[in-house]
Amino acid sequence: MGRRLVSARPAPAPQPGFWWARDDLDFQDGRLHLAGVDVAARAQAADGPLFLYSAARVRANLARLTGALGQTGRPTRLYYAMKANRFVPLLEAMAWWGLNGIDVCSPAELERALACGFAARDVSFTGTAVANRDLDRLLAHPELTINCDSVGMIRRIGERTPGRAIGVRVNPERGVGYGDSDKLTYAGQAATKFGVYRAQFGEALATARAHGLSITSLHFHVGCGYLDGQLGDWEAAIAAGLAFLDDLPDVRTVNVGGGLGLPHRPADAALDLARWAAVLKRRFAGRDVTVAVEPGDYVVKDAGLLALQVTDVEVKRDVTFVSVDGGFNLAPEPAYYGLPCEPVACAPRDWDAGRWAPVTVAGNINEALDVWAADHPMPPMAEGDIVALLNAGGYAASMSSNHCMRGEFAEELVG
Ligand SMILES: Cc1ncc(COP(=O)(O)O)c(C=O)c1O
Repeated sequence: MGRRLVSARPAPAPQPGFWWARDDLDFQDGRLHLAGVDVAARAQAADGPLFLYSAARVRANLARLTGALGQTGRPTRLYYAMKANRFVPLLEAMAWWGLNGIDVCSPAELERALACGFAARDVSFTGTAVANRDLDRLLAHPELTINCDSVGMIRRIGERTPGRAIGVRVNPERGVGYGDSDKLTYAGQAATKFGVYRAQFGEALATARAHGLSITSLHFHVGCGYLDGQLGDWEAAIAAGLAFLDDLPDVRTVNVGGGLGLPHRPADAALDLARWAAVLKRRFAGRDVTVAVEPGDYVVKDAGLLALQVTDVEVKRDVTFVSVDGGFNLAPEPAYYGLPCEPVACAPRDWDAGRWAPVTVAGNINEALDVWAADHPMPPMAEGDIVALLNAGGYAASMSSNHCMRGEFAEELVG
């Protein structure tokens, strides 16, 4: 299972090594800590589902990305995709740190970005199915970059604000997603709703021209969660996206989207940012444009976890169910996208790997799909124990719903 467990009893020393462990996320004195915070203690105090986010980890992720962008040999811009996590203290921290961009996908996200300290000139909007009432709220901000997702959106902006500068999101018909998942690939063989295809591009250009709109940025986001072994496919998508530049003399910025993934299971090889930056360097060589990226997951996902309390441990037929007080509606990605979930006992009472047995960790929603993990080896668990679901800093709270009216949770930003 990718773990290196020791058979020491009862004291957890030396500490076991886990595939997901790192300096700021590991056991200390037998208890899971994130950024120096005892997860179980914090969760017991919250007495309900608790998202813990590490500000330091987010900042480190941003710094790593900024460093990599510095290797591309081009001017760059880093927009954080707010859809991944819109927790206000986190956004305020990002603005305070001087992050130079944030990408939003709805008027409400735009207004949150502004309220959290981002200037409109540092915000890009990339959304789909944008209604006229949305446009009215967006167009109130002349400095906002708006990436148009359809020919109709270009026309409707032209009718409202002729002469405006716009961005156009294109669909390069090449894409990549975690584990080659179709659901996480936004541009590829199958037609998707995202962006303007090559076949409609002439019409898009003519529509912009008819309204005096200048296209100053080109945008494509081709999928989510790609890892190191997929960089070749990602590079092919970049090349296909850049082919649109030939018809766009006014473009000053090319946004290659987000999608940078992170490991979800032991076998996943992490993205090598140096190789990632080398792709951008290669593909943008000789092009007089700013390279923009808009990652969400890579910035926040591994900085957060969801702590849940065990309600029951019970054998049903031949399966041991560890039930917890939060369901898939709080962190929907495993259920929606089949992304692997890693439940971790926050204070294992037994460090002997021989006694760890496979269990099914299930949530509190009356849906058969509400299973966090099956056949997952865990130490003996008991009512009241705290389980942390790792990698819950992105697309968890922000995607949560109130299904079964069990949508309540707390969020905390820690060191
Ligand atoms: C247009 C756009 N940009 C950026 C992102 C962020 O993607 P990720 O969180 O995978 O980096 C998304 C995610 O769906 C997106 O749709």
